[in-house]
Amino acid sequence: MSVDPRESQHQPSQRGSRIDRYVGSYAERAQGMVASEVRALFAVASRPEVVSLAGGMPNVSALPLDHIGDIVQRVVAEQGTTALQYGSAQGDPVLREQICDVMSLEGIEASSDDIIVTVGSQQALDLVTRVFIDPGDVVLAEAPTYVTAINTFSAFQADIHHVAMDDDGVVPEALEEALSNLAAAGRRVKFFYTVPNFQNPAGVTLSAARRRQVLDICQRHGLLVLEDNPYGLLRYEGEPDRVLRADAPDNVIYLGSFSKTLSPGFRIGWALAPPAVRAKLVLAAESAMLSHSTFNQMVVGRYLSSHPWREQIKDFNEMYRERRDTMLAALEALMPAGSRWTRPQGGFFVWVTLPDGLDSKAMLPRAVTERVAYVPGTGFFASDEGHRNMRLSFCYPTPEQIREGIRRLVGVIESETSLRDTFGSASAPHTGGTDAPTPDLP
Ligand SMILES: Cc1ncc(COP(=O)(O)O)c(C=O)c1O
Repeated sequence: MSVDPRESQHQPSQRGSRIDRYVGSYAERAQGMVASEVRALFAVASRPEVVSLAGGMPNVSALPLDHIGDIVQRVVAEQGTTALQYGSAQGDPVLREQICDVMSLEGIEASSDDIIVTVGSQQALDLVTRVFIDPGDVVLAEAPTYVTAINTFSAFQADIHHVAMDDDGVVPEALEEALSNLAAAGRRVKFFYTVPNFQNPAGVTLSAARRRQVLDICQRHGLLVLEDNPYGLLRYEGEPDRVLRADAPDNVIYLGSFSKTLSPGFRIGWALAPPAVRAKLVLAAESAMLSHSTFNQMVVGRYLSSHPWREQIKDFNEMYRERRDTMLAALEALMPAGSRWTRPQGGFFVWVTLPDGLDSKAMLPRAVTERVAYVPGTGFFASDEGHRNMRLSFCYPTPEQIREGIRRLVGVIESETSLRDTFGSASAPHTGGTDAPTPDLP
């Protein structure tokens, strides 16, 4: 019997079953791979009627798009045979020199030999974890911390322990205590992951005095620091602090990125590491992806050499400063008693603590029904914390949208508060809005 291939395309089995036949075959490490709360939200929050205070997308509409178009053309016309060829896993030497100039703005003196270009700093996180973590090894991370770092560490079966933070960043005494306790328990701590500037998600910055203390503690315990600094140049007030790497080249792996200061679409980030570590990272990168996009690196390189990028960052900072100020003013004017929030000096995020008895995750479906989205705090912890917290981003929405978004959000918080006052605790998960996202978290 002959089968018309056009017909067979429409058989259910050809469309793909949702049943996973290979569920018993995955490696153990795949158990730790779960969709992040941010990802689950993107689909819902991107609807036009929703004011999204959720995603941390840079506002690339402020870029000189015509100029970037010219650069793309010229790279093809003038360097096409190199740009369209394989390159090295360590990255384009010219771009690595330029990255040294970028890092010098934050006090880093480095050789371009010690840099590896990565697919965003996210790949650097992956490579560092790949070369350092065996299942069960401990990673220390701030509480809360960057959600996709949690996912990466979990994917390699790290045991993530959080260290308390306050408005001045990680608390040195808590770091010391965590290290002593883990040493007493015979646990192997591989590195301390930190985002010292305008932290994602908390928005706080490690104070200058604490920077020295944190380095001292880590050096005393022989602990490697993984310093992730994608937001450092996006400062809206105050003086820049020295990055940790500037004072401890042998103890710090430093991660940088062009995602926030230029564009995440190029996927260009980097790691600066002590030479032996850098060599391992290059080998790991080779097996992960053979070589980088030569083309993207050349476009970014030309952008840096042909455009006043420092001025461009200043323009970004003015735009983001206005949005941050708008969000802080709206929170100040509208948020109910019992709530508090951080006041970031840069970056993209404000971290809100809700009044007692409210649960940001349970409240989210109601918020989306009211056309405002945020990221519940629970996504930023490896442990069961953050129920009273939410991350708000001010980078992408316009100031008008931010004001409207906060107004809607406060309406939701107030109705949750009155539920709490009536029943003792707020939001049993809302069942009315069938479209509400169901964040898929461990
Ligand atoms: C703290 C932190 N690290 C790393 C990244 C990854 O950025 P990219 O891979 O685009 O450089 C992000 C992105 O938002 C981030 O917030």
